[in-house]
Amino acid sequence: MLEHYLYNWLKEEVHINGPWCLESFIAHTDKVLDDVAHSESKLHEVLTTSRQPERAARFFMTQCAGDFLSEASAMARNVLGNSGVYTSELFKILIDEYGYGVDKKKHSTIFEDMLQDMGMSHHVHHYWQFYTPASLSLTNYFHYVSANHGELFRYIGAMYYTEATLALTTKHQSRAIKTIFNGAVSTDYFDEHAHIDVHHGRMALQRLIMPMIKQFGPQIIPDLIRGFEEFRLLQDIADEELYAHIQWHDELDQHRAQAAALQGQKPVDLRITETELELSVLHTHPNDELFWVESGELEFVASPELTVRLKAGEGVVIPKGMLHGTRICSPSCTYTVTAI
Ligand SMILES: [Fe+2]
Ligand SMILES: [Fe+2]
Ligand SMILES: [Fe+2]
Repeated sequence: MLEHYLYNWLKEEVHINGPWCLESFIAHTDKVLDDVAHSESKLHEVLTTSRQPERAARFFMTQCAGDFLSEASAMARNVLGNSGVYTSELFKILIDEYGYGVDKKKHSTIFEDMLQDMGMSHHVHHYWQFYTPASLSLTNYFHYVSANHGELFRYIGAMYYTEATLALTTKHQSRAIKTIFNGAVSTDYFDEHAHIDVHHGRMALQRLIMPMIKQFGPQIIPDLIRGFEEFRLLQDIADEELYAHIQWHDELDQHRAQAAALQGQKPVDLRITETELELSVLHTHPNDELFWVESGELEFVASPELTVRLKAGEGVVIPKGMLHGTRICSPSCTYTVTAI
């Protein structure tokens, strides 16, 4: 029920205008992939122009961690059972993701190595509080569609989009990490995908999608397109959410000044008193919020590397959708929240 609630809006947002045939499917998806191939990397620009590029790069890695540390787990759900030759074709991709049984080459292991190189924890979900909602939705989408084999074509469409675009975007990701860390940290995970996902994209199209359409007919194309377009939309949202968070971190001081200017202008919505060490696990709000400390002291957490102390008479404006949390660090602390 929760998954339906979280993903049903995609049905209204993504329009599958038909009728489709193999040729129009390929023309459409080629055009989308071509646009990705020829677009400038906004990620590269955002990371390298951040006020703290290393912190921004590590926050980017944090957003990847939920997916890449459990890499291809959702794909593994779909190689269970018997979908004829397609199970075996999908298994060829899966076995690459799992390093052909060589742990050192397993994609999740290469990602772990990169995290450690960057001074980060490599433990699965160490950073769970810091995943943005959209990052979580990417990983969970694959599990959502893979849990039901009736959604196989939708899954294959989404998988094609992700494999084919990773071949393109990982080049920019590698370049950004190289620039920011002056070549001092490994970029193996991204370099490996810039190479292998060219093949995975091709395998998804030529060994899965094209023979599937030939065998089952054009009536399966709407599901393929749906997966392709849904994941494209979720990925675009996740990218924008990442960039907004990096900006939020960079501009935290301005948001503190803004709070001082706004304080007292509106009646408060909520006044909360908590005792020492009480936590607000990281969360977001659907509107901008004025957060203000009236007495005591707390730590305001915006990212794994960005915690500021707020004392009585200090606050921050939290933009809608931006992750934040608190930890009380005085015997008692009273703060107010006001939607603005
Ligand atoms: Fe991979
Ligand atoms: Fe892949
Ligand atoms: Fe909050």
